[in-house]
Amino acid sequence: MKLLSLVIALSCFLVGCTSSEGEDLEKRIDELIEQMTLEEKVIQMAGDGGIFFPEGETAWNVPGLERLGIPPFRMADGPRGVTTIRGATTFPVGVARGATWEPEVERRVGAAMGRELRSFGGNVLLAPTINILRHPRWGRAQESYGEDVHHMSRMGVDFVRGVQEYVLANPKHYAANSIENTRFEVDVTMNERTLREIYLPHFRAAVLEGGAASVMSAYNSVNGQFCGENEHLLKQILKTEWGFDGFVLSDWIFGTHSTLGSALNGLDLEMPIASVYGNQLLAAVNRGDVPESVIDDAVRRMVRKKLQYNLDQPSDIDESVLGSDEHLALAREAAVKGSVLLKNESGALPVDPSGVARIAVVGLLADMENTGDNGSSDTNPAFVVTALQGIEEAVGDAVTVDHIGKDILAAEDIATIEAADVVIVVTGLTAEDEGEGLIAAGDRADLSLSDERVKLIQDAADANERTIVVLEGGSAITTGDWLSNVEALLMVWYPGQMGGHAIADLLFGDANPSGKLPVTFPTGLDQLPPFENEPPPGNEQPKVTYDYFHGYRYLDRNDSTPEFPFGFGLSYTTFSVDNLRASQAEATADDIVRFSVDVTNTGSTTGAEVVQLYVTYPGSAVERSDRELKGFAKVVLEPGATQTVEIAVPVNDLAYYDVAEAAWGLEHEILVGTSSRDLPLATVLTVRAERPVSMY
Ligand code: BGC
Repeated sequence: MKLLSLVIALSCFLVGCTSSEGEDLEKRIDELIEQMTLEEKVIQMAGDGGIFFPEGETAWNVPGLERLGIPPFRMADGPRGVTTIRGATTFPVGVARGATWEPEVERRVGAAMGRELRSFGGNVLLAPTINILRHPRWGRAQESYGEDVHHMSRMGVDFVRGVQEYVLANPKHYAANSIENTRFEVDVTMNERTLREIYLPHFRAAVLEGGAASVMSAYNSVNGQFCGENEHLLKQILKTEWGFDGFVLSDWIFGTHSTLGSALNGLDLEMPIASVYGNQLLAAVNRGDVPESVIDDAVRRMVRKKLQYNLDQPSDIDESVLGSDEHLALAREAAVKGSVLLKNESGALPVDPSGVARIAVVGLLADMENTGDNGSSDTNPAFVVTALQGIEEAVGDAVTVDHIGKDILAAEDIATIEAADVVIVVTGLTAEDEGEGLIAAGDRADLSLSDERVKLIQDAADANERTIVVLEGGSAITTGDWLSNVEALLMVWYPGQMGGHAIADLLFGDANPSGKLPVTFPTGLDQLPPFENEPPPGNEQPKVTYDYFHGYRYLDRNDSTPEFPFGFGLSYTTFSVDNLRASQAEATADDIVRFSVDVTNTGSTTGAEVVQLYVTYPGSAVERSDRELKGFAKVVLEPGATQTVEIAVPVNDLAYYDVAEAAWGLEHEILVGTSSRDLPLATVLTVRAERPVSMY
């Protein structure tokens, strides 16, 4: 650290620095690069396999250059908490946090992870995962925020901002990485409009709005070029069109394919070890196949971020932040806010503990530490509060809790369930059902629960009509076989290490559910586009084509009625949303139009509602989605209270990717409500444009 500061001070003295930004910064980097040999530069362009942190845990190391005081990168995964270090906080998975619809919570979660990583010397968090959940069978659906582009952008941007208060963030996997079983080889083809409108906007937002310092390329190829050497994605779009001034690193091990392809097309850093870089890259430069300016550009990008983020400074955060009370409270808050109440009949929930004597808590998952995938996002929390533990602690000694910790019920279990005042079945999916490809469970086989777990729910519900299901899993689960048998259904995803407390908070009414689905729950696979994750025979490269439609866009287009629509979620109270008005009825491309509605809590409990704004495109010249989410806001209201909620929509967000002027001058109908299928309010916005405008 001191050496780098000295070098900087000296350079500043020589070139007359006044600030660490802009031109001065670039001059300093010039000076540093000038002092490096080619070998020293190339060494900084690949990981060296790993380093040992003080606690004896590993993280990924990328050498800096000690001679010039340039610090190394030290990277750890972080989609649900900083990985590999015992005691770091395990938050609910990404999809659960997506279900909060609260970017502000996500910013705090990002900051907590950044703080924890920084506390033990890490400086790059390998998160957020912002791949579109194209199909709920995707094994890593849980890591991402959901199926919608706008929603993904809002959550991802705030996570990045939070992380980067302390360390560098690394949005991944760029791009179109939505299959596990063939992830290393699959070629994803799509037209330019689909790429620009569905698979890239959230990366663009993470870079341009979030200021992400780095981006990880995906394993798969897009339109015939692997993402780690995809000129269109890396050079043209990310670095040139978006003006990204950070660095691109490859996904691990199988993420690079050729020295020249990677170096010439914009990959700055190969991880976790040199396989196509290192000596091969050095030789390529010496042969004249790779200009040294390419190497300089890559090193410049990395040194730039090291300087901008003061990575040479020792951390002033000590390790007491790992799993601190504050972070655990945040994990609990996120789990509460991300749980989605999908059904609640006959006032089943909340349960008043003083009104019951016996509660049966049923299912193998009830006392399981079920925090998510065993792949790269796996964490090592100091403890996990299971659903059973949370329930027992919440009800105390006054209520008898009968724990039936299995999925196949015996006659005596049925008798126990019959005798209970209320039955809570905790079930769903685990890391055995879904996860990362190759190193964990991979893609899901289907969307339903196992026959055994369906029967568990049915048997419990047959024995006792006050049956409530707490459902765990990483994305949509079909419920048609058993939904009508149960009184209430609470989707809690993988709710993190404080999940059991969060579940109890919601079941007993200490908190009011306010989560909304960030992914459509279909009635079955036949409502969704195909999911092709089988490798073809022989050595052929697997191929899939992504068309424009998936998720609610796909169901809307086919007039299919989902089990639970995107954006849906119940509360213990009720709301009305009235009086939609717009700041203007006509707009041009550069305007930001402000829409307002009045939200009233019409029930008797304090609660939060997510107002959602969708845009439709009647009479559009090109095929568009029936409706698209373009804004949302969550508001907390006491009983009887009314609040005006404003949602700002930049008109440019309504464009489609095409230079045809037909996109403009159309009337856009704006719909507002509380889920993608409950949009009672409408107004028309007329967009005028003299010129054809495209999205970017
Ligand atoms: C995953 C990345 C992860 C990396 C390092 C890869 O297999 O795809 O998301 O960051 O491993 O653990």
